[in-house]
Amino acid sequence: MLDQTKKLLQRLLAIVWVRRGVEAVTRVLLEILAANRLTSLVYSVLSIPTFNREQYAVLRGRRDYYRNLSRERTTRTELRRNVHRLEKGILMRPRREVFALEYLVETIEFYERAALDHARGTSEPEELAWAFSVLETYFAVVDVTHPRIAQARERFEATRVHFVPERRERVPYRHSEIIPSAASYEDVLALARQRRSTRWFQQRPVPRELVDKALLVARESPSACNRLPYEFRIFDDPALVARVASIPVGTAGYGHQIPMLAVVIGRLHHYFSPRDRHVIYVDGALASMSFMYALESLGLASSVINWPDFEPLERKMQKALKLDDDERVIMLVAVGYADPDGLIAHSEKKPLDVIRSYNSNVGD
Ligand SMILES: Cc1cc2nc3c(=O)[nH]c(=O)nc-3n(C[C@H](O)[C@H](O)[C@H](O)COP(=O)(O)O)c2cc1C
Repeated sequence: MLDQTKKLLQRLLAIVWVRRGVEAVTRVLLEILAANRLTSLVYSVLSIPTFNREQYAVLRGRRDYYRNLSRERTTRTELRRNVHRLEKGILMRPRREVFALEYLVETIEFYERAALDHARGTSEPEELAWAFSVLETYFAVVDVTHPRIAQARERFEATRVHFVPERRERVPYRHSEIIPSAASYEDVLALARQRRSTRWFQQRPVPRELVDKALLVARESPSACNRLPYEFRIFDDPALVARVASIPVGTAGYGHQIPMLAVVIGRLHHYFSPRDRHVIYVDGALASMSFMYALESLGLASSVINWPDFEPLERKMQKALKLDDDERVIMLVAVGYADPDGLIAHSEKKPLDVIRSYNSNVGD
């Protein structure tokens, strides 16, 4: 017995020493390799398994962006981006009589394809109606005697055989037309304080209508070029929730009683350039935050679950959700009715003076 305890202690000590050794070597390597951008290149090569999945996803996304241009799809990211650019041109002060020349022809081409797909019953009619209305407004406000605009207008007019929306009010409008929300600052602060990461739930189903209502709020969030490059994959089948909840490490100890799980996925095929590779995380996080506030307003609680960029888990999740190679998990959100007796972490926030500064620390 004494011998066994001694051996166990020796083994534990050995593990501690090995860990300390690895950490010491890592720290030395980091001091050297984090010296500048050139030395960090060496690190990139050494750490291929850590970053390669993301690089591959970005590359796949870019490839698929171009492949998708000629595919039939419900919604079209390239059309959304260009219509958004047109809207910005329309609302500029002062508005120019000639603008968007550099992307006008491609916008008309994107629109033509979407309108043709609509005739086949595939395009999303709301998106197409928005594109139609904005294009119609564009041609109403620019100098149509400009030869390139005149040519584009002619092509746009020809698409009317495929599609004309019933409603055309999807165009830039005055700020004074926005109906102000009745929520006061105090209401918003109270909602923010009401939302706390909730990990213990009542064992009753979450009505899908409420989740859908919360998602209607989520999709109102800002999104770069209005692409909305995310999808909320919701699980409420207990077996599926249990399977998906068991994958991330952050659910340890409470994952077994989560009634509903949203996996927020970003699609990198919305971008043709690597410069936009982080947008899925920004847009997905903004939408997720709105989603969680909306859930609170509907009597539901939630908790974010971290998605670590860790290869063994990535592989498991990709298999479980049949994710394409350009699809990245942004986060998971546990959703349910809070167990009133379940404890909530206090989670003290940082003081304002620590998290904000005005006009400080600026360069030359
Ligand atoms: C990106 C992110 C990842 C998180 N991951 C986990 C997680 O894996 N497991 C968990 O129980 N909570 C997780 N949380 C919840 C945080 O622990 C929590 O937001 C924080 O402690 C502040 O508490 P509050 O949300 O109640 O204000 C995560 C939150 C964020 C924003």
